[in-house]
Amino acid sequence: MKLGLDDVIAAETVLSDVDGEAGRLIVRGHDLEELAGQVSFEEAVSILWQWLVPGSTEDLRARFARARVCAFGHLAALSGCLAGLTPVEGMRLLLGALPDADEDPAALAVGGAAVAAAMAVRCTKGLFPVAPNHSFGHAADLLRMLRGSPADEGEAAGLDTYLVTIMDHGLNASTFTARVVASTEAGIISSVVAGLCALKGPLHGGAPGPVLDMLDAIGTADRAEAWLDEAIGRGERLMGFGHRIYRVRDPRADVLKAAAGRLKGRHNRIAFAEDVERAALAVLERRKPGRRLDTNVEFYTALLLEALGVPGEGFTPLFGAGRTAGWVAHAVEQVKTGRIIRPQSRYVGPRPAEAA
Ligand code: ACO
Repeated sequence: MKLGLDDVIAAETVLSDVDGEAGRLIVRGHDLEELAGQVSFEEAVSILWQWLVPGSTEDLRARFARARVCAFGHLAALSGCLAGLTPVEGMRLLLGALPDADEDPAALAVGGAAVAAAMAVRCTKGLFPVAPNHSFGHAADLLRMLRGSPADEGEAAGLDTYLVTIMDHGLNASTFTARVVASTEAGIISSVVAGLCALKGPLHGGAPGPVLDMLDAIGTADRAEAWLDEAIGRGERLMGFGHRIYRVRDPRADVLKAAAGRLKGRHNRIAFAEDVERAALAVLERRKPGRRLDTNVEFYTALLLEALGVPGEGFTPLFGAGRTAGWVAHAVEQVKTGRIIRPQSRYVGPRPAEAA
């Protein structure tokens, strides 16, 4: 038995392939770099969803816009129920209130995830929800609903890059979870809610907020190495480093770093992050020799989303909003296999005493 199911192949997929040794991510036949920063979220999803949930870029733009409006109609009444929850918990509650039996559940999941993420970030802080505007592209409208102010073109392009970068990534924990639920034919929305629950943990999608906490605690570049060394000495993990599959730099890190660098006024912040990154890699090499730990997607996610004016506790909801496109495609692909996922466990507990 393999703890953590390392190297176990549990699905065949046409969606994405993660090469952990080469640091390469292929999405539907395209290197990540051909898509992220090059095409809109809607265009990337139309590529990801081909044959499974077909739709052209324009068709998906209209379906997602309609779905955002429809989801807001379902969810606005719940905006007052989010007090005391974190934004990702709020998003979980809201997504769970969407019906599986919709005529276009795939689009409803994506539109609903954007609405739920934005609403949860605002309403857990006591702010009013902002209604969607179907004339905007998905990324621009998501940022507008979340911040309450319109995004300029550069900001919308930055969020497009982020959403495309993280929309699918092999059989990670949340995608596997979504596939297990889909295999029971529970429905697309239920599969997405399950995926979000798995994403929420700090070992998966819950790390970018803590990356910012770490940068804030370090404060200045000259303190980085000593601070990071002490953190490792206390047995802590450095957030934004290490990965189950990548043994080299996560290819998503550079795409996101470049996107953050394209936004106005970010030069000093990125230079500081680069200093911290260099120090972290040196400390990890010294303190964890032979472990091959490198920068993962979460490190520059934190920098990009911060630059877009997203509060740290909103990072995981936004991750969920983008990854929903992947969960949907995997759910549909899984259902097509016609087989429920039902592995075995080995019983190692006590056995009843044998009858004499
Ligand atoms: N900082 C310090 N040490 C680390 C880190 C880290 N970020 N990551 C792994 N290690 C160490 C472990 O302590 C362990 O060392 P040990 O054997 O001396 O105890 C060794 O490296 C191997 O660690 P594993 O737990 O086997 O690595 P695994 O592949 O299971 O973990 C994970 C991957 C969970 C991402 C881990 O690297 C981690 O906790 N990173 C920090 C959190 C983070 O950035 N999460 C986001 C991941 S990206 C994503 O899911 C979207």
